[in-house]
Parts: sequence; structure tokens; C-alpha cells
Amino acid sequence: MKKIYFTTPIYYVNAEPHIGHAYTTIVADVLNRFYQLAGYETFFLTGTDEHGDKVAQAARAAGETPLAYADRISGLFRALWPKLHVSNNRFIRTTEDAHKRVVQLILQKVYDAGDIYFGEYGGHYCRGCERFLTEKELVDGKCPDHGTEPDFIKEKNYFFRMSKYQRWLIDHIQSNPDFIRPERYRNEVLAFLRDPLEDLCISRPKSRMDWGISLPFDDNFVTYVWFDALINYLTGVDYPQGERFAQFWPVCQHLIAKDILKPHGIYWPTMLKSAGIPPYRHLNVHGYWIVSESKMSKSRGNIVKPLDLMYKYGLDAFRYFLLREMPFGLDSNFSETALIGRINADLANDLGNLVSRTLAMVERYRQGRIPEARNLEPEDRELKDSALRLALEVEKMFADLGFHKALIATWELINLANKYIDSMAPWTLAKDPGKAERLDTVLYQLLEVLRFVAVLIWSFMPMTAEKMQRQLGISKASPQSLASLREWGSLLPGGHVHKGESLFPRVEEKRKEEEEKEKMDTAPVITMEDFQKVDLRVAKVIYAEPVKKSDRLLKLRVDIGEERTLVAGIAKSYKPEELIGKTIIIVANLQPTKLMGVESNGMLLAADAGEGLALATFDKEAKSGSKVR
Ligand code: MSP
Repeated sequence: MKKIYFTTPIYYVNAEPHIGHAYTTIVADVLNRFYQLAGYETFFLTGTDEHGDKVAQAARAAGETPLAYADRISGLFRALWPKLHVSNNRFIRTTEDAHKRVVQLILQKVYDAGDIYFGEYGGHYCRGCERFLTEKELVDGKCPDHGTEPDFIKEKNYFFRMSKYQRWLIDHIQSNPDFIRPERYRNEVLAFLRDPLEDLCISRPKSRMDWGISLPFDDNFVTYVWFDALINYLTGVDYPQGERFAQFWPVCQHLIAKDILKPHGIYWPTMLKSAGIPPYRHLNVHGYWIVSESKMSKSRGNIVKPLDLMYKYGLDAFRYFLLREMPFGLDSNFSETALIGRINADLANDLGNLVSRTLAMVERYRQGRIPEARNLEPEDRELKDSALRLALEVEKMFADLGFHKALIATWELINLANKYIDSMAPWTLAKDPGKAERLDTVLYQLLEVLRFVAVLIWSFMPMTAEKMQRQLGISKASPQSLASLREWGSLLPGGHVHKGESLFPRVEEKRKEEEEKEKMDTAPVITMEDFQKVDLRVAKVIYAEPVKKSDRLLKLRVDIGEERTLVAGIAKSYKPEELIGKTIIIVANLQPTKLMGVESNGMLLAADAGEGLALATFDKEAKSGSKVR
């Protein structure tokens, strides 16, 4: 069986997971699932990077020991991945004994090869990057990534003779054009290698920083965090003796973002070379998610948390958006508006409608039974050929990391099928008993398209794909594979479809609430005069009942010295009977408006209480109708 091995960076435990981490890990998951569909045996590794200055500092700031702190944050990452349906085989921590042993083993090998020496070095040390920056890298004396001035540190340390492997690395990159990809990052590494490579400082004296793995040949020093972290990719497959190492290391593909290109593109291959281990197969480098035109950071307060989005919009929609929106290798802007746009257009409209229309017609016209296709007409053949061609193209797109292209191409098929429905007009065919065979064929073609789509989107949206397969009556016992898309027609006539509920509801309501919230956040300053125009009154609820056909609205009759009827969107937070007798606050002079056919003469005041709404009331008895000021 063919094999393939995917890794993500191991994330620092100095910060909680955000969408940047989620993106790389979900991309790795999509690849991993896709190659499973393609019949490969896969291995997928992720984990946390727990040593070094940065983590030690974060632990200090949190008032915890480094290990207790690392345990806690590493736990957040570990618990996050299953929630995002990430199917990693192993979660590695650099504080594991197994990893410490492998790091010491590699250090000893490199040392024995004569590639480690002791020396003094003075340089510009950036705490954010955890490395010495060269003069050339500084911009106005500052680290270009962190915008901070590095410390000048002079101390005795151990160095790895990286310079010795410069020529070899250039040759390797040149003779393996897909070693680092996309090409822009390969060029970036080659450009860097045009200047003489400096040796790499690979130790930290324990007197300055002791949170790390001791050097096997000098106990006064710990290993530099990058030399330690990169080796996780070997520990993860049980280097040196494990069978997994033998099987999976030759087919290893790393996934990273551009921020850590240098350690992966330069340090890592030269370290491997010195230790006598063949280099990884591919380094796949993607761009950065930008939020509100800038890098995500705690200080800017623009960190986007994956679970928040998942709870708000659903996991599959979130996964789809990440993979559809970012062309692999380029930076992309993240915005909730764009996410909502994709949900409504691509998921609810295009895919959701295709599925619900097709299944509804099969239920209505064929009592839910899969009909048989007979004589194919040119339009039927076009649909079939497009699907077969797409299945082949998608494989190629995955091999080139063109995830967004694979999704675009899949949506072309979805849209072709939607147009096919419009032009075949099955509802007209259904009226003519003489066209029964034609209707059978049209419905069958559509169901087969759904089968193709369900397989092709599985790696991106596993839950949706599995739901579609259940709707098509495909049993779990017959797992779908890419090979099943080599042929058209494997859905068996006579089987039953089950429509169920719609796959992706539109997010109109949520958007409106968002807009309202945004408006509130940026409310303008008003004068007392402006405020006094608002007639706020004490109101006692006399009666409350649901508004027909709405799950959000309640109709209230209130007493404000006179009787008023108003309609409020609080049905999800309050039952009608809970409201009767309550004293609340209403805006009494709001222009009347009709909601679901009921006239509303006022608006009650309520606040967002996390889970639903909380009504504004009084902490003492207040007289109905009196003014609130
Ligand atoms: N611990 C090192 C990696 C060691 S690997 C041997 C590290 N950790 S990190 O927590 O800073 O993670 C960096 C990685 O997180 C990036 O390479 C990328 O995979 C992901 N991302 C972090 N922020 C990101 C964005 N804003 N956009 C996209 N991905 C980003 O570096």
C-alpha cells in the first residue's frame, strides 16, 4: 500500500490556539483524508513545542512552573483538534521522554560527525524569534517580524557547522524543484543561500535559561529550542528503530506558514544531512491570515478563535471557508462577512439547493426510490463526463496543493447540475406520463452527481459528505473512495433516498444581529436633548403569546397607563407564561411597525446575556406608565 506522512508545525504553548494554527492543521487534515480516499496508508502528526525562553517567560508571567503551564496550554491544543474533526494519528509534546532521547541521540551523532564546536558569539538576539538575527535581517535596528529591538548578547555556546552543508543544500533544492513549494518560497530560500551561511548557535547556557533538553556532551547547557523542536518530526514516527520511521519518513511532507521557512528550509535539511538521515520529501509553505489588514496579535486584540467560529457558523462551513478562501501560498484576509457570504452563496444556495431540490423531486415523483437511467441525451452525457473528468483533475490539484482550485472545480459541477435541473425542468416531465423514462434518467443523473460531490468534499467537510451519503442511502459499511469515481453509475436503482433537513441554513438572522452589534459598538455621542426624545416607560406585561409561524417573536400586551401591543424577538429566551406579570421597560414613542403581520407599538429593552437575552426590569416596584429617566 502506498504511504504518505503529513506534519504540522508543533505550536508554541505560549499562546492559545487561533485560526492560523487551525488553518495549517485543517489543511493537513484535508490532505490526510484525501490521501486516505485515494487508497494511501497515511500518518498525520501534530503537537506542541514546549521548551525555550518564550515558554519559560509566559509561564513566569502566568505564575506557574514551565511544565504545569505547558501541560495546561498543550491540553488546549490537544482538546481542540478532535472538535475540528482533525484526525491526527499522534499528538507529540517536546517534553516527552521519548523526544528528549531522540534529540540527545541526534545531537550526539552531529557532535560525533565533528559538526558541533564550542565558541564565543556576540549577536542580536530576538526573544520573539528565539534566535540571533544577522545584521542584514534587521530593519532600522529592529526585528522585522516583531518590531522590537533585539538584545545584544555575547556568550560562549555550541555551534552547528551549518555552513559546511550550504553547497549540498543548494544542489539539493536545485535538483528537486518540488522540495520547497510553492515556488516563491523555494526562491526565497535560494536567495538566502546566495550569501555565505553562518553556523547555527544550538545551545543556551543553563545559567541564563534552563528550560530545555540538556546537551548530551555538556550538562551546563540546554539545546536551542529550534534544534529540539524540528526533531519532533523524527520522534513522531519512532526514529530510529521504529517501523513507522522506515515506512513514513521517506514520504514526509511538512506543512508550515512562511514565518518559519528559514528553520525548516535551511536548519532542518542541514541537520538531517549531518545526522546521516535523508531529507524530508516536501516542505509545503502557506501564507498568512490577516485580520483587519494586520497581523493577528494579542496587543491588537484581533485574535480570531476557531471554536468561536465553529459554534457560530458550524464546523464544516468554517473548514470550507478556510480552504476555499486562501490560495495555498498567498496571504488572505479573514472577515466574518466573507465567511457569511460563502455560507449563503456556495453552501446554502449552490450545494444546499442542489441536494434538497434533487432529493425532494425523487421523493415526490418516485416515492424516494432511485430510478434507472436509460438512454442518455447530450446534456446527460455532459453532466456525466464533467463529473468523471473532475474526479481525475481533483487528484492532480491536490498533488499541487490547489485546494481552492479543487473546490472551485467541484462547485462548477454543482452549478452545472443546478442549471441542468432548470433546463430539464423535471416538474414538466412529471406531468406527462409519456416522459416517465426521461424523468427517471434526469433524476438518476442528478443523484449520481450528488454521489460524486459527496466523495469529493469529504476531506473538506466530512460531516456534510457523510450526511449526503446517508441521504443517498449509501451505507457506512461501503466507504467511498476516489476509485469509486472512476465509473459512472454505481448508485443502485431501487435504493431509497432520505431527504432530511437542509444541509446549510442561510445566516441572514445572524448577520443582522452582527450589524446591530457593530452599530452599537460604534454608537455616536448624543446630547441630553437627543436622549429626551426617547420616551422610555415602565410597562407591566398583561398577556403574552407566540406569533404564528415565527420561532423568534412573541406578541405582548402591556399596561403603560393605557394598553399597548408590541412584538418582541425574545421567544428563544422567554416562554410567554414567564413574562406575564413582569415589569419591564419599553420605548413608547417608536414608530409602529408590522412584524409577521402583527402591529408592534413599542420596543422592550433587553441585553445580550451570552446564551440568549435578559430583560431590563426594576429592583423595586415601579408604577406602570411612569417615565424612565
Ligand atoms: N514552535 C514553532 C514551530 C516549530 S515546528 C518544528 C512555532 N510555533 S507557532 O505557534 O508560532 O506556530 C507557527 C505556525 O502557526 C505557522 O507556521 C502556521 O502554521 C501557524 N500560524 C500562526 N499564525 C498564522 C497566521 N496568521 N496565518 C496562517 N498561519 C499561521 O513557530
